[in-house]
Amino acid sequence: MVCYVLVTSCVSLVSRSEQYKHRFVETGPQLLHTALTDMDLPVGRHPVTALCIALCCLWGGESMPDPKHREALMEMEASMQTGGQLVMSDKEKVLNARFLQMKQAEVMRPDFPPAMHFFKARELIKESPLFSLLRKAPKGAALHVHDLSMTAVEWLVKNVTYRPDLYMCSSDTQSLRFIFCSQIPQPLARCSPWVLLEKLRNATVNVTELDDRIMRSMTVFTDQDPETLYPTQDVVWERFEEAFMALRGLVNFAPVFRDYYYQGLREFYADNVMYLELRAVLPEVYELDGSTHDITWSLKTYQEVTRSFTADHPGFFGARVIFSFHRHVNSTVMARVVEEAMKLKRDFPDFVAGFDLMGREDQGRPLWYFRHELSMPSDRGLLLPFYFHAGETNLEGSDVDQNLLDALLFNTSRIGHGFALLRHPVAKELSRKRGVAVEICPISNQVTKLVDDLRNHPGAVLMAEDHPLVISSDDPAMFGSSGLSYDFYEALVGFGGLRSNLRTLKSLAINSIRYSSLPAAQQEKALAMWQKQWDKFISENT
Ligand SMILES: *[C@@H]1O[C@H](CO)[C@@H](O)[C@H](O)[C@H]1NC(C)=O
Ligand SMILES: *[C@@H]1O[C@H](CO)[C@@H](O)[C@H](O)[C@H]1NC(C)=O
Ligand SMILES: *[C@@H]1O[C@H](CO)[C@@H](O)[C@H](O)[C@H]1NC(C)=O
Ligand SMILES: *[C@@H]1O[C@H](CO)[C@@H](O)[C@H](O)[C@H]1NC(C)=O
Ligand SMILES: *[C@@H]1O[C@H](CO)[C@@H](O)[C@H](O)[C@H]1NC(C)=O
Ligand SMILES: [Zn+2]
Repeated sequence: MVCYVLVTSCVSLVSRSEQYKHRFVETGPQLLHTALTDMDLPVGRHPVTALCIALCCLWGGESMPDPKHREALMEMEASMQTGGQLVMSDKEKVLNARFLQMKQAEVMRPDFPPAMHFFKARELIKESPLFSLLRKAPKGAALHVHDLSMTAVEWLVKNVTYRPDLYMCSSDTQSLRFIFCSQIPQPLARCSPWVLLEKLRNATVNVTELDDRIMRSMTVFTDQDPETLYPTQDVVWERFEEAFMALRGLVNFAPVFRDYYYQGLREFYADNVMYLELRAVLPEVYELDGSTHDITWSLKTYQEVTRSFTADHPGFFGARVIFSFHRHVNSTVMARVVEEAMKLKRDFPDFVAGFDLMGREDQGRPLWYFRHELSMPSDRGLLLPFYFHAGETNLEGSDVDQNLLDALLFNTSRIGHGFALLRHPVAKELSRKRGVAVEICPISNQVTKLVDDLRNHPGAVLMAEDHPLVISSDDPAMFGSSGLSYDFYEALVGFGGLRSNLRTLKSLAINSIRYSSLPAAQQEKALAMWQKQWDKFISENT
């Protein structure tokens, strides 16, 4: 039995790793000969199996396992994980030793942050030395971030809500709505009469209290006990949608729209992220007089702001947009949206990466419902890469649960979340074979109650076997996080376990560029840029 385990793990490793194949082949031949003659095993068909049997079982005469075998097995597993094949430089080894010490210190604490809800863990993480190091590390690209929650709500409150001509009302769902207008706006259904915020502030005794209330309306983050406040998935998703409604009126105002995106890029840049692929709603942006722009205007604005930000910030590579639409619509609307997406991809081929459907999967329509609309691009021979959210669910066996396989059938370029991937062996194998990376967003999955203790996140398994994956932050401002570092912390300390190390971090950063939508030549450029930042990071921290 032990031998069987040894052989199968060895075979799976050897057939995956060229490096190991050579090593085994060098020492193999005479062992193989002995194995074949000594053992009556069906090894002839597969030389790799034979080599493994020879190596692993020949010494197996005694009943106490050979410590060398044990070591070999451990080494095999370590080399199979994300980053396991990277060779570290001497300097990297020095930093790695420190990195592991820091991780050890995190694991030893009684209030282990990944086991706690992020809202409670945030301050603990923020103060840890490991987090400071992760913030400094060049993390490459953020490939799964939504436009409407990329920027800290503190900035919105302190900067945007202090601008003139802003009206506010309280909805009957105990949320707030906003609109910039040159005169008193038309009343909004299910909302109190509009008040000019400037006037309200003037008449308010405790402005901090008012600002806190505004801030709370725009995020799911809370100082209260999150488990009490959000007892179920339904409740947290409702709060989520309410917060987006509150944000919309603020962010979709033309001057704010630019500033918000610019500020968001600033926050990611400060967190040492060099490139973004933004899931963008492309709303109809409005002006003070109530007139609106079409979605091409929104896209163009993103493009212009990206250009100017990139020009002003050395080491920043840029951003692209994944046009994302709510999955709650019907087929008629979806057909129009896919048309629009094809047009945008045609007109902005270098800036639009592709298309996605978003919103809570468990309540929206499954991908298969839209099969005709989603086939339109390939039917017409047009290129529209997909980046589907799929498997962001724990409803095993439901229609929604099929989204993973359907996303792959539609040749999705990456899988958003893929939380349910472990329960779909075929989807998992396809994703590995085709190099369709999973965009893992640990904090998001915890906040939406798919998992409580992040040590139990499916990413643990995927990272243990170097499945194609990247780490991202989904809706950082909603969760009170920012950039990528908090999610990297959860991945490396939570489901990465004690095994994950500096190579894992490095590999995740490289993955984020390799699995981006950038064409090969641009990826090389981005990687070269990243490598410089990485070398600098290593030198400065050893
Ligand atoms: C608000 O943000 C804009 C754009 O980033 C900036 O120019 C302005 O100085 C900020 N205002 C305040 C009061 O912080
Ligand atoms: C609010 O107070 C400031 C300072 O006292 C004043 O300049 C401004 O006109 C007031 N705004 C409104 C709308 O009352
Ligand atoms: C205003 O409210 C905040 C939050 O409730 C409180 O901490 C602060 O002390 C109050 N300030 C004043 C001047 O009352
Ligand atoms: C689809 O939704 C749109 C917008 O909500 C609506 O106007 C239209 O009637 C719907 N079409 C069908 C066939 O249900
Ligand atoms: C997916 O890719 C396969 C193989 O390249 C192709 O035959 C098929 O038409 C594609 N399907 C869609 C929906 O793009
Ligand atoms: Zn998402």
